[in-house]
Amino acid sequence: MTQLPAAADLTLDQQISLLRGGDFWHTQAIPDKEIPAATLSDGPHGLRLQVDAAGDNLGLAESHPSTCFPPAVTIASSWDTELAREVGAAVGAEARQLGVDVVLGPGLNIKRNPLCGRNFEYYSEDPYVAGRFAAAAVEGIQSAGVGACLKHFAVNSQEHVRFIVDAVLDERTLREIYLAGFEHAVKVAHPWTLMASYNSVNGALASQNKELLTTILRDEWGFDGLVMSDWGAVYERPEGVAAGMDLEMPGGHTLSDGMVKDAVEADVLAREDVTRSAQRVLDLVARAPRGATGRVDPDHHDLVRRAGAASTVLLTNDGTLPLRRDAKIALIGAFAQTPRFQGAGSSQVNVTRTTTALDGFAEAGVEVTYAAGYDPTSAEPDDGLIREAVRVAGAADVAVVMVGLPPRYESEGFDRDSLSLPEQHDALVQAVAAANPRTVVALSNGAPVVLPWRENVAAILESYLGGQASGGALVDVLLGDAEPGGRLAETFPESINDVASTPWYPGTQLRQTLHREGMFVGYRHHVSGGPAPAFAFGHGLSYTSFDWSDASLSRDRLDVEQLSAGEGLTVSVAVRNTGERAGSDVVQVYRVDRTGVVLRPRRELVGFAKVHLAAAESRRVDIAVEPRAFEFWDLDSGQWQCPAGEFELVLAKSSTDEGIALSVHITGGVTDCVDSPDRPQTAVTDAEFEARLGRLIPRPRPARPFDRDSTFAELATTPAGRVVRATAWRASGIAESTDEASLPMMERGFNELPLRSAARFAAGRLDWGTVDAIVAACNGPRAMWSSLTARWGKKG
Ligand code: BGC
Repeated sequence: MTQLPAAADLTLDQQISLLRGGDFWHTQAIPDKEIPAATLSDGPHGLRLQVDAAGDNLGLAESHPSTCFPPAVTIASSWDTELAREVGAAVGAEARQLGVDVVLGPGLNIKRNPLCGRNFEYYSEDPYVAGRFAAAAVEGIQSAGVGACLKHFAVNSQEHVRFIVDAVLDERTLREIYLAGFEHAVKVAHPWTLMASYNSVNGALASQNKELLTTILRDEWGFDGLVMSDWGAVYERPEGVAAGMDLEMPGGHTLSDGMVKDAVEADVLAREDVTRSAQRVLDLVARAPRGATGRVDPDHHDLVRRAGAASTVLLTNDGTLPLRRDAKIALIGAFAQTPRFQGAGSSQVNVTRTTTALDGFAEAGVEVTYAAGYDPTSAEPDDGLIREAVRVAGAADVAVVMVGLPPRYESEGFDRDSLSLPEQHDALVQAVAAANPRTVVALSNGAPVVLPWRENVAAILESYLGGQASGGALVDVLLGDAEPGGRLAETFPESINDVASTPWYPGTQLRQTLHREGMFVGYRHHVSGGPAPAFAFGHGLSYTSFDWSDASLSRDRLDVEQLSAGEGLTVSVAVRNTGERAGSDVVQVYRVDRTGVVLRPRRELVGFAKVHLAAAESRRVDIAVEPRAFEFWDLDSGQWQCPAGEFELVLAKSSTDEGIALSVHITGGVTDCVDSPDRPQTAVTDAEFEARLGRLIPRPRPARPFDRDSTFAELATTPAGRVVRATAWRASGIAESTDEASLPMMERGFNELPLRSAARFAAGRLDWGTVDAIVAACNGPRAMWSSLTARWGKKG
C-alpha cells in the first residue's frame, strides 16, 4: 500500500480533478501531493494496454502484445469455475507484468437475446452461472494483486443505442435475473471496482443512478470499492457524484470539473460527496501495485489451449469423433488458416502468437488435405472454392469443416440481425456433407447460430471463440487428446422467434427497451411451456458415458428460520464413468417450485458441479444449495422471501433433461398467493406489463427538441445536423484507422453517440459552448438565436 494524503486534506479543485481520469486509461495524478496515477486497461480475457495513452475504446489503436484467453462465452461453457479462476489469475499476472493496476472485466451481463453483439463477452443467460463465473474471475485476477472491474452495471443487454436506451423492467426481474449475478460476485469476491453501464434503468442513467450505485450496491450488498463509469457514459456529472459514481472515464478533459464545482458552490451537491468519491479514488491508487517487467508469460499459451478444449461443446456425434489419427482427413474452411478466436471492440487483444488448426494438425504429426471453401472477407458463396472443397472432401475418409461467424457479423457496438451463418458457410457445409457423410462441423462464433444442416452431418463441435490457441484446442478435441469438456451456458433456439424477448428486442422505440418477457429469459422460457430449443441450456455430449445413482439430500425439510440463518442443504449423487476413456460430467441442479405462491419459471438453475473421472472411476458429488435457491424478491416487503410448501430439486444433464427429482418441504414461509403462477409469462399487452411494473409504461424520451443527449443520428435528421455529423466523423479519424470490414460497425457506433459523450471522447477539442451551439443550430433558427444571445449575454 502506498501512503497517500487523505482526500479531506486536498483542495476542492484537487478533489474534483480526481473524480475523472487524467487521460483515456489513467486516473488523475497530483504530483504536488505525490499522488500517482493508477492504470486501467481492458479486459476481460486478455489485456489491451494501449501504447499511446490517447487511446480508444474500440480496439482500433495499437496495444502491447498479451495473451488472448477464451472470452466469457467460452469459459462459461466449461462449467468449471476453477478454470475461470486459473484464467483470471493468468490475466492478473499479465496485468502485473505490463504495469496495469485494474483489469476492466469481467463482464457479466445477462444474455437477454442471442442477437446481442457483445454476448461473447458475457457468461450466460442465467444469473447463477454468470455470478459464479464472474466471482471466480475476480478472485483469480485479484489474486495477482491487481484489481478487477465488474461490468456493466446494470441491465446492459443490448448494443443497439446503448448510450441512450432505457431498460424498463419490473423489480422482480431486475433483482432475480439482472442483478443476482452482480450481487453474488460483489458479496463473494469483493472486486476492487465496478463499472456503471451506458444505458438507463427504469428512467435513471446507470452512471447517476443512486438506487443502483448506493442503495443496492453499497448499502445492501456491502460493496466497498470504487465505481467508475463506462467510457463516455456520463451525462450530468454532479448527479453522478451524488449517486455514488466515483470516477468518470475516460479523462483527458475537464468538461465535468466546472459542473461539479458550480454544484458544490450552489449547495446542490454536498462537499462530502466529492470528498468521499475522491477518497475512493485515492484508496484505489494506494492499493495499486507499482512496477512492470514489460513481458507476459509465454506459457499462458498452453493454458489458452487447455481452457479452449475444456470449454468445447460436443453438440452432436454419431461416433465419428474422436477421429482416428490414421484416417484421411480433409480440413476445410478458411478459419483453419485465418482463425476467428476473439470478438471485436474494446476487448480485442493484440496476441502474442496464434495456433491455427493447420498448425495443430502439423504439431500432432497428422496429415490433412486443406481447402479454403470460402473467402473469409466476403459473404457471397464462391462456387469455385466450394467445388474444390467438395473434391477434397470426397477423396477423404472424413471431412472437418470450420465455419462460423466472421468478425464483422458480431461485435461490441451493434447487435446481429439474424442467427444465421453467412450464406457461403451454410452452402459449404451442405455441399461437403453431400459429398462425404462423415462430415464434422467445427463452429467458431461468439453466440448461438441456427444450423439448418444439423441433421445431415456426423458431428458438430461448438468451439466458440477459443483465444489465441483455438486451433490447437480444436485439434486436441478432434483427435481425442482432450475431451470436449463443455456444456452450453446458453440456449440455441430453433429460430429467433422462439426467444421470449424477440418481439421487444432491442426496442422498437429508439430510446426504450421494454422487458415484457420479464424473468423468462433464455431457458426459463423454453422450460415453461415455450418451444423446444435446438440445443438446450446445459447440453453437451462426451466421448465417454456416465451413470448417476444414489441421489440424496442432506435434509428434505427446512424452515424459513433456517434459511434466514443462511442454512441451505446439500444435494449429492454418485457419478460413475462407464466408458473407456477419461472424461468430465456436469451435474446441474434445478429448483422447481410447486408451492403455487409466485409466478416462476418451471426450472431455475441453483447449483452445478463438474467432475473429472478416469475410465471406470466413480465419485460422489456434493452440491451446496443456498437459501436463495428457494427465495423470490417480494415487492411488498422489498426483501427476499421464501414460499412455504413443496419444492423439487432436479439433478439433470441439461435444462430439458428429465433428470432425478428430489422433494424438499419448506415450512414457515409465505403461503398466500403473491403473484399468480398461472399468469402468462410474457406480458404481451400494455395492461399486463403495467401490472407487472406496478406503474404505467413510461413514455420514451422524444428525440426532439435536441439537447446534449441527442445522438449524431438524431441530429442528422436536420440539414445542420448532417453537416455536424460529417464534420465530427472526419475529425474522429475512425475512417482512416479502420479496416473496410469493420467500417460499417464503426459508423453505426458513431451515429449512436450522444453529443455529451462525443465531447468527452474528444479530449478537450469540443467544449460545452460548441455543443450547445450545435444543439441550437439543429433545433432551428429560433433556438439558435436564443442560444447566441444567452452566450453573448453571459460574456458581456
Ligand atoms: C466498453 C467497456 C470498456 C471501455 C474501455 C467501452 O466502450 O463498453 O467495456 O471497458 O469501453 O475500452
